[in-house]
Amino acid sequence: MTEWQKSNWRQKPRVQMPEYTDPTALNAVEEQLAKYPPLVFAGEARKLKAALGAAGRGEAFLLQGGDCAESFEQFSADAIRDTFKVMLQMAMVLTYGAKVPVVKVGRMAGQFAKPRSAPTEVLDGVELPSYRGDIINELAFTPQARIPDPRKMLQAYTQAAATLNLLRAFSTGGYADVHQVHQWTLGFTQGEETSKYREMAGRITDTLDFMKAAGVTGRQAHTLQSVDFYVSHESLLLEYEEALTRLDSTSDQWLAGSGHMIWIGDRTRQPDGAHVEFARGVINPVGLKCGPTTTAEDLKVLMNKLNPTNEEGKLTLIARFGAGKVADHLPRLIKAVQEEGANVTWVCDPMHGNTIKSATGYKTRPFNSVLGEVQDFFAVHNAEGTIPGGVHFEMTGLDVTECTGGVRAVTEEDLSDRYHTACDPRLNANQSLELAFLVAEELTKRRGQGAMTAVS
Ligand code: PEP
Ligand code: CO
Repeated sequence: MTEWQKSNWRQKPRVQMPEYTDPTALNAVEEQLAKYPPLVFAGEARKLKAALGAAGRGEAFLLQGGDCAESFEQFSADAIRDTFKVMLQMAMVLTYGAKVPVVKVGRMAGQFAKPRSAPTEVLDGVELPSYRGDIINELAFTPQARIPDPRKMLQAYTQAAATLNLLRAFSTGGYADVHQVHQWTLGFTQGEETSKYREMAGRITDTLDFMKAAGVTGRQAHTLQSVDFYVSHESLLLEYEEALTRLDSTSDQWLAGSGHMIWIGDRTRQPDGAHVEFARGVINPVGLKCGPTTTAEDLKVLMNKLNPTNEEGKLTLIARFGAGKVADHLPRLIKAVQEEGANVTWVCDPMHGNTIKSATGYKTRPFNSVLGEVQDFFAVHNAEGTIPGGVHFEMTGLDVTECTGGVRAVTEEDLSDRYHTACDPRLNANQSLELAFLVAEELTKRRGQGAMTAVS
C-alpha cells in the first residue's frame, strides 16, 4: 500500500459528501480549522484502544451512545448533562451484569454529519436536496437552507469543543447522582415487569453501601468519583476530519483530532472509497458498521486495510442487521473474522436495522425490536463461542417520545408530543435505562453459562 497521507482520500471515489459550491470559502474554513487545537490527544485515543481491546476479549464491555445527529439549535448544557448522567447510570447497571468495566463512549462532540438514503427529499411536490446534518446544511425545507455551507464546520468545531469541555468537567468532578441507584427506577411504572429492575437496583445499592461501610478508599473509591468518558462520531465529512488530523510528535503517527473514536457508516464502507482511505491512516480506534449487505469478502479486505497489524482494540465491528435478521448475517461475518484470525471487538447497534414508519407518520423504532436485536446478537455469539463486546444506542437523557414501547410505554399516538430528533428516533432516558437492565440480564445469563472468562 502506498504511504498514507491525510489528503489521499481526495483521489478516491466519494459518496454521501456535499458538493460545496464556493471553493474559496471552503479553503478558508479548512485553513482555519487546520490551525485550531485538536479536540483529543493521542494518549487518550490509545487508552480507548486498549479498553476496546479488553472488550474484544470479554474483559470489558462497550457502551456507546448519544444522538443520531447533534444539533446546533438544541445544543444545551442540560441536554449534555442528562445524556451523560443516563450513560453513567446505564454503565453502572451494565457493570453489575457484566462484572467487568464498562467503557463509556458518547456519540457526542462531533456527531453532526449524516448519510442519507436519498440525495433529495420531496414534500408536497417540491424537491430539494436532503438535509445532511447541521455541519453541512439546515433542516428547514427551503432551497437556501439546503445549500451546503462550509462555514458550518467552524460552528460544529466550536460546539464540539464546548461539549467536550463540559464532559471533561463532569467526568473528573465526581457525579454524586450515580450512587442513587434506587431512585433511577422511580420513573418506571409499578408492576411485575419492573420489579426485577428494582430488585437489581437494590442489589447494586447494597453493594455500594457495603463498599462505603467497609471503608473502600483510595483508587477503588476514586473509580466511582471520576470516569473515563470518550467521544466518537461518524467520520463522514472528510474535509473536517482532514483539517483536524495532526501528527502526534511522540510517535510520529497521525491522529484524527476530531474525536477519540471514529466510525465508518454502512453507506460509506466501500473498500476502495474515500472514507476507508481516510480512516486507514489514523491511530484512533475505528468502528465499522456491518449491515445485511456487508459481504464476507469485503469484510476481509476492510479488516486488512483498517487494521493491517491486527492490533487489538483498533477495529470495532458494529453489527446492525435488524431484529430477526442477526442469525442470517452475523455467523457468516464471524466466520470471515475467524478465517482471517483478525482481532475485532463485536458491538451491537440495534437501532439502524429497526427503523419503521408509524401509522401516525413518524419515523420510529419499537423498543421490543431494539431489545430483540440485542438478544439475537447475544444468542449468536453464545452459539459461536465468540464475544459480544458491547452495545451502540441512539439515545438521549431527555424525556422525548421518539421510539415506541418500554415499560412507561410511548404509543404511536404519543410520538408527536416530544419528537425532537433532527434525524433518527432516540431512546429516551427511561427506555435507555430499561434497556441497560435487560442487557445486564443477558450478560448475567451469559456468565451463568460460563461463556465469559470472569476477570476481576
Ligand atoms: C448512524 O449511526 O447514525 C448511521 C447512519 O448508521 P448506519 O451507517 O449504520 O446506517
Ligand atoms: Co442514526
